[in-house]
Amino acid sequence: MDPLARLARPDKDTLIGNLCRGVSDGAGISTMLWAEELVTREALGIYLLRSGRLAYLGQVEQTWRPDRIEARHSAGDLQLDELKFVHHDALVTELTFRNVGSGPLEATVIVLSDLEGRKASAACHDLPGAPGACAVLADLQTGRGFSVAFGSTRPPDALRWAPFRKTLVRLLAERQGPPLQAQFKQDLLNCGMAFDLALAPGETASWSLAIAARPTPQEALHALATPLAGPAACREAATAAWHEFFEHQVPRFACSDPSLVDLYYYVWHVQQVNRMELGNRRLPWPFGAPAKFKYSHLWFWDACLQAITLRWLRDLAYSFGNLRSAANQQYPDGMLPHETALAPETMRRNWPDGDGQSSSVTQPPVLGLALWEVYAATGDRALLADVYPALARYDRWFEACRDEDGDHLFAFVHRWETGWDNSPRWDGGFDVEPVEVNALIAIQRQVLADVAELLGWPEEAAAHRARAQETADAVRRLMWDGAAGMYCDLLAGHAKSPVHTPAAFCTLLAGLPTPEQAAALVDHLTNPARFWTRYPVPVVPQDDPEFDPNDYWRGPTWIHINWLIVQGLLRYGYRDVAAELVRRTFQLMGGQGRPTCNECYNPLTGEEARTPDLSWSGLVNDLVITCVGGIRPRADGRLACDPLDLGLESFHLQGVPYRGHRIDLAYDRAGGYRVAVDGREAGRRPDLGPLGPFALG
Ligand code: GLC
Repeated sequence: MDPLARLARPDKDTLIGNLCRGVSDGAGISTMLWAEELVTREALGIYLLRSGRLAYLGQVEQTWRPDRIEARHSAGDLQLDELKFVHHDALVTELTFRNVGSGPLEATVIVLSDLEGRKASAACHDLPGAPGACAVLADLQTGRGFSVAFGSTRPPDALRWAPFRKTLVRLLAERQGPPLQAQFKQDLLNCGMAFDLALAPGETASWSLAIAARPTPQEALHALATPLAGPAACREAATAAWHEFFEHQVPRFACSDPSLVDLYYYVWHVQQVNRMELGNRRLPWPFGAPAKFKYSHLWFWDACLQAITLRWLRDLAYSFGNLRSAANQQYPDGMLPHETALAPETMRRNWPDGDGQSSSVTQPPVLGLALWEVYAATGDRALLADVYPALARYDRWFEACRDEDGDHLFAFVHRWETGWDNSPRWDGGFDVEPVEVNALIAIQRQVLADVAELLGWPEEAAAHRARAQETADAVRRLMWDGAAGMYCDLLAGHAKSPVHTPAAFCTLLAGLPTPEQAAALVDHLTNPARFWTRYPVPVVPQDDPEFDPNDYWRGPTWIHINWLIVQGLLRYGYRDVAAELVRRTFQLMGGQGRPTCNECYNPLTGEEARTPDLSWSGLVNDLVITCVGGIRPRADGRLACDPLDLGLESFHLQGVPYRGHRIDLAYDRAGGYRVAVDGREAGRRPDLGPLGPFALG
């Protein structure tokens, strides 16, 4: 099975590198984003002049895969095939023009690049290391300066080329009809080249174009040299890197539901495209942006929760990088900012109280939860020791700065601190003590206690444990609404908020409700008039007058919230409800014709909402591994399995990394459920259910 072929589809048009993104919706590459800047509108637009007039190059077909886009365009007897890919952030397209007619063909090919920003210079350069290739360099000033280089391999000898802007402009002025004139606007710097093309019937002409943006002109030119010296080799390397990722990083998955397999591989692809590596002082490790380049930065709760998904990659640098990056942004007072930009001094305007690069508010405290989940699967104590000090200071910061009334319950001060931006929970302002925040603080303190214990600091452990107890007690005492059978946010004067949301179910995750309270919560959850929609769980119940299935935090279903709820249900033994929620989550993301990994979804229709390819929605793959495969990480390092019955006839998960071992999990009606450790069978049972725990050697 080739995941790249499996993921091929016609409806995607984006190629993503580490710090760049190119969109292909016509001949060439239409827009390009580099880091946080919109660099060009028309990165590499390809036009044709025939008999002095602009000829339309219509797109015939396009196929996207993670490693490349193949596109075919045609203009009468001229056919253009393109292979587009990314090589270390240079966007490259290999062009082949073919005369598919019966007579000779003459045309002028024009490659144009409309670079936005104030121009500083535009000049033509040789490319050292790429003989015959040539580049146009545009130095742009867009606040922070950066340079764009745009280059070409040597065109076929028969072609004349004019890579100078002036020549091009003159050439165009001589030849073009009015339509192309419109391409020239005052605020844009047009770079380009023109080639005369003369092809006999059946004859082809091929060459390659590339564009790259970098902080300095030298780096921009340098980025083009390798792909223009050997484009085919670079394209093959891009494909090989994706193969390596799917074959060696990701546990192999097969099952009786092909749409779930598609979803699984699609979601891993999303994790990989959102990976960023800056290697600078502030962000020295790889980390995941929520979605390049919509949310390009490091976001606190996104990164922490994504680390849980990433614990299943063989190389843990990405998962650990997310947690270390989140912890590394700490303010002197202990605050962990909700957002850190890629470059210094980019956030000063939005956050005047911040440190320039990050925001001065936090986000839901999920670092403790995520750290423990990642530790359970990996057993990496060095990670615990690294993150613990920041987590402990963060906890003290909450106490000092987010508990004004000293009731051991914490409040947020800003819409973006809540993580639930426009939720009706804050329609009346921020005098709210949110229920899940406090459940998460109780977890955070428990984790601090467990980590301190493990690292051999029993006194610190006892202090954390006492604080965990204080917050847990306060949640139980003050947030439970007996009449409604619900845990609630608290408003001023500890009045219970009438806005019920799935935030309440996070108390299950923290182990706070009594069994009776848990049963009442599950009644709310599974009530079709409230939370149990066709695609649960909406972040506002259907019977709330504020419910809007399409409005962000006012109704849609969010996958990371479902993940939190599933954990709580399993903790309280609601296996069947958990299984049904997991099944419907798979259906929502994978069962509607093609896999998606959106920011949120309409809970009634299942329509995708907001941003596609969002990292933390990838927690669905954690559900595949823990609920389908059944592996349930344990802090004590033993291997416990407990697959849920999701109605699959069969499945096979191979090479799941767990504490340095390779675990295989398989099920079919005939052979039952089997677990193997490092290739040797560790246990089996005829049906799906608990197995283990086993000690691992
Ligand atoms: C939105 C969400 C927030 C999230 C961010 C990045 O602002 O409301 O919770 O962290 O996007 O995904």
